Amino acid sequence: MSELSEDTRNILGLQLPTDPRWVNLAEKTLEDVLTDHAFCEQKAATSCISIIQKYSHLEKLVSELSPIVTEEWGHFRLVLAELHKRGLQLGKQRKDEYVNALISFQQKGGDPEGRLLDQLLTMALIEARSCERFKRLSEGLEDPYMQKFYRRFMESEAGHYTLFIELAENYINRERVRNRWKEWLDYEATVIRSLDLRGDRIH
Ligand SMILES: [Fe+2]
Ligand SMILES: [Fe+2]
Repeated sequence: MSELSEDTRNILGLQLPTDPRWVNLAEKTLEDVLTDHAFCEQKAATSCISIIQKYSHLEKLVSELSPIVTEEWGHFRLVLAELHKRGLQLGKQRKDEYVNALISFQQKGGDPEGRLLDQLLTMALIEARSCERFKRLSEGLEDPYMQKFYRRFMESEAGHYTLFIELAENYINRERVRNRWKEWLDYEATVIRSLDLRGDRIH
């Protein structure tokens, strides 16, 4: 395991930094990355809608996630425009091994509070890892336009990551949130370690 980078540990809390070779691979297949990225944004929007539908009685959650839906959909449109600019189409969605692995760790039955917590922490984690990957792209790609393009996403997803944690703390005992977050961080590191390093995907 490579050493934790300062920013990964401090800003995101992630246990395992992305392999530095990833950005070089991604640069070679940037068009695939864009397609994958477009679907990630789309899923972020639809996941927020699902959470709102499921927890419609939680006023603060509904109010705070509603603008995120708009924002994520805006992200999707930005990436789609970038694809079109390159003469590409959205194409087909791939199997998302990373997200599927995270979902398999979610508490399925048991107390409703634990289920809500896991839903919010899954979102927080995907935001955090995406933010880290966007940071890599913004710093590692050669093209200054693409550096700026990804910097914008990085900043936005950093805000989302904290929002999901704060929402969890609003409804659930802080200590429970923190303990479970630690378990999620450890689990996520094992997921990242188990996945092949591929330059055609965000995760
Ligand atoms: Fe986004
Ligand atoms: Fe986001």
